Amino acid sequence: MILWLPILLFIDHLTGDFIPNKNDYDAYGSKTAFNDHFLVQVQNDKNPSTFLLHFAPYENIEESLECFIYFPNLTNHYVHSVGVGRRQTQTERHFFFVGESVNDQVGAFIGLVKYNGTEKESLPCSLNLSYHLQYLHSSHYQKHYILGVDPRGLIAYGFSNEFVLIFEAQSTDTLESWNGNLTWPDASFVPHAVDISEKFGVIAGFIYRANSTNQQYDPVIYLINFNSSGHPIVVDEYKPVATPGTWQALLTNSDANTYSAKYDMSASINENGDVLVGMQFINRVFLFAVNITNPINLTY
Ligand SMILES: *[C@@H]1O[C@H](CO)[C@@H](O)[C@H](O)[C@H]1NC(C)=O
Ligand SMILES: *[C@@H]1O[C@H](CO)[C@@H](O)[C@H](O)[C@H]1NC(C)=O
Ligand SMILES: *[C@@H]1O[C@H](CO)[C@@H](O)[C@H](O)[C@H]1NC(C)=O
Ligand SMILES: *[C@@H]1O[C@H](CO)[C@@H](O)[C@H](O)[C@H]1NC(C)=O
Ligand SMILES: *[C@@H]1O[C@H](CO)[C@@H](O)[C@H](O)[C@H]1NC(C)=O
Ligand SMILES: *[C@@H]1O[C@H](CO)[C@@H](O)[C@H](O)[C@H]1NC(C)=O
Ligand SMILES: *[C@@H]1O[C@H](CO)[C@@H](O)[C@H](O)[C@H]1NC(C)=O
Repeated sequence: MILWLPILLFIDHLTGDFIPNKNDYDAYGSKTAFNDHFLVQVQNDKNPSTFLLHFAPYENIEESLECFIYFPNLTNHYVHSVGVGRRQTQTERHFFFVGESVNDQVGAFIGLVKYNGTEKESLPCSLNLSYHLQYLHSSHYQKHYILGVDPRGLIAYGFSNEFVLIFEAQSTDTLESWNGNLTWPDASFVPHAVDISEKFGVIAGFIYRANSTNQQYDPVIYLINFNSSGHPIVVDEYKPVATPGTWQALLTNSDANTYSAKYDMSASINENGDVLVGMQFINRVFLFAVNITNPINLTY
C-alpha cells in the first residue's frame, strides 16, 4: 500500500483532479444562503451532498420547519457555494448551487432546486421538489468557482478564471457559457467573491503579475454591468495599493493560486449602491459608492 501512495499522488497531479478538503466546512465558497423566507445550507460531508432547508421564522428554530434534501445526482460531487435571490417572494422557494465533481471528469456544474409545496405542507420535503443540473464538461479543476444570484433569483452567474456562465431559473435546460478571457480584462483574473444587485455587480479576486525576479498575485475589484444580451461586462476596476513601509506592502501572495482560507474575500452591495469588499489577508474592508442610475464608476 505504501508503494502506491506516491504513484497516486503523481497521477492526481497529472490529471488535476479536485480532491476537496472536507474537514474545513467553509472552504471554497459560501455554504449558507438565505433571504427573508428560507435558509439553505449545503452539507458536503454527506455523499451525495445534501441541502438543509429551513423556513422562516428563524427565531426559536423549529425542526418542523426544516428538512433535508437529498439530491441523488450529487454523488461524488462537491458543492462550492449555494445562493438565493435576496428579494425572492415568499412563493419563490428555489436556490442555486455551483460545484465540481470529485475524482472524475464530469466537470463543473450549476444547479437549481425548486420547492413548490405550500409552507404548511408536511415536511420532510422529499415531495414537491424539482431538480435541475447542468454541466460544463469541458472545464478543468477550478480552485475558485463562485456564484452570483440576481436579487429576484431569476438568473445565476457562475464565475471562474476559465469560464463565465449564465443559468436561468425559468429555462433550466440551457446553459450559456463562454471563455473567461472574453469577460476578464486580465486573463489571469481569479474571482474570489461576488455580489449582484439590480443594476450592477462587483467581483473581487486576484490577478497574476510576474517579472524576471519575482511573481506575485495582486488583489483587484471589478465593477460589472450587463450588456443588452445580459452578459456581465467589466466597466471599472480598483486595485488596492498598500502604503509603502507597511506589512501589507511586503506581501507577494505568491501562493494565492491555491485555495487558502486567508485569501477568502467578501462583497456586498446595498440598495443605495454602497459596496463593501472585504479582504482579510490585508486586514482591510473597502467602501465604494456606485451611482445606481448610471453604474459605471466604482468610487472609492
Ligand atoms: C406537494 O405534494 C403533495 C403530496 O404529493 C401533493 O398533495 C401536493 O399537491 C403538492 N403540492 C404542490 C404545490 O404541488
Ligand atoms: C411541483 O413540482 C412537482 C415536481 O416537479 C410537479 O410534479 C408539480 O406539478 C409541481 N406543482 C406545481 C403547483 O407547480
Ligand atoms: C440525474 O441523473 C439521471 C441518471 O443519470 C438523469 O437521467 C437525470 O436527468 C439527472 N437529473 C438531473 C436533474 O440532472
Ligand atoms: C481565450 O481562451 C481560449 C481557450 O483557452 C483561447 O483559445 C483563446 O485564444 C483565448 N482568447 C484570447 C483573446 O486570449
Ligand atoms: C519585479 O517586481 C518587484 C515587486 O513588484 C519589483 O520590486 C522589482 O523591481 C521588479 N523587477 C523588475 C526587473 O521589474
Ligand atoms: C455582450 O457581451 C458579450 C461578451 O461577453 C458579447 O459576446 C455580446 O456580443 C455582447 N452583446 C451585445 C448585444 O453587445
Ligand atoms: C447619477 O447618474 C445620473 C445619470 O447619469 C446623474 O443624473 C446623477 O447626477 C448621478 N448622481 C450622482 C450622485 O452623481
